[in-house]
Amino acid sequence: MKNYFDEFVVDKQIALKLDFNPYYRIFESGLGDPVSIEGNEFINLASNNYLGLADDNRVKDAIKEAADRYGASLCGTPIATGYASVYKKCEQELADFVGLGDAVLFPSCYQANCEIFTGLLTKDDLVFIDHFAHASLVSGVKRTGCRIRPFLHNDMKNLEKQLSLTGKYKRVFVVTESVFSTEGSIAPFDKITELCNAYNAVPFIDDSHGIGVIGKNGKGILEEKGISSYKGIYVASLGKAIAHAGGMVAGSRELIDYIRYTNPGLIYSTALPPVIIAGILKVIEIIKTGYESLSNRMWEYKKLITDAFLESGCSLSKGDAPITSVICGSAHDTVLFAKKLFQENIITTPFIPPSVPHNDGRVRIIAGANLSGDSVMKAVSVFRNISGCKG
Ligand SMILES: Cc1ncc(COP(=O)(O)O)c(C=O)c1O
Repeated sequence: MKNYFDEFVVDKQIALKLDFNPYYRIFESGLGDPVSIEGNEFINLASNNYLGLADDNRVKDAIKEAADRYGASLCGTPIATGYASVYKKCEQELADFVGLGDAVLFPSCYQANCEIFTGLLTKDDLVFIDHFAHASLVSGVKRTGCRIRPFLHNDMKNLEKQLSLTGKYKRVFVVTESVFSTEGSIAPFDKITELCNAYNAVPFIDDSHGIGVIGKNGKGILEEKGISSYKGIYVASLGKAIAHAGGMVAGSRELIDYIRYTNPGLIYSTALPPVIIAGILKVIEIIKTGYESLSNRMWEYKKLITDAFLESGCSLSKGDAPITSVICGSAHDTVLFAKKLFQENIITTPFIPPSVPHNDGRVRIIAGANLSGDSVMKAVSVFRNISGCKG
């Protein structure tokens, strides 16, 4: 009999050849500084822990308290089995934080993006989506059967041209991210909302790498771009600077209420554990009171790291976010570059296809605000002399 699973084999040639697999690494510690892997200490420049709050004692205490009060799980979907008071509080707190009417919490932002378009779009609608948009956005839009037209990355001329040629569609959406995490680029979202107004389209922003990272007070893309009465849809992962898990979807009260009662990704999925909700609330409180010093460190580290790579002759992608993306080329060279850094006890994230285009591999570096100055300076001295990137 045919073995149906023979074809489902991962190609690990590069990992075998280099004797190095940078994926599914097993940590023995939390995201402190340093982290521990197989008994050795590493400087962690791979995680999206931008503000360094994942291992913060204030956050851990809030989580412990919530575990005592609420236990491990709600064991059901919020619509059917109930909604602990801490959820409502968190949703409103997050909505207020980004300046929108209401918010709802999905188990993950991937799930939110895959499901959110269902029920809001049909095959008679049209979506313009940034060419570099996250896989979950592409997947979510595709599921609706609507017409999809990619626009060139952050290219407003290209978007406007396409919008001006739009034929007769019931609804038109423009979908993009705020901070593109493999590039470090930031969307000109003020321009996008202006274009949406002019061409009667609905803006949709994924602020996963923007919330807690950009904007004067860390409130994300709407603050960063001075957008005060946003009429579109907003989503963000709570697993990056917010240092927990889950996906928030925010917008007008009416829209969020509609999603709350109709979206399958929400109403048929177990609620996030209450301890996560309590931790998110603590992180928002910390950002509201202490963002300036955390963000100053995050930006200072990005500058030091970027300057060091430029000194060594590496090419970096052009981006204004606190991300340094080193251009490496082929998948092999990208993994090899990450291996060289690993041998110096530095963990980074190599991006190879399908996450990036063919021969456009990058090694991404994010230095969270929890890293000590010593750790960052150790990494910087390695970066100053590194080879193997594209010059
Ligand atoms: C832009 C963007 N959207 C959505 C997600 C998914 O978020 P989550 O990890 O909360 O599912 C990610 C995470 O990689 C992301 O970068």
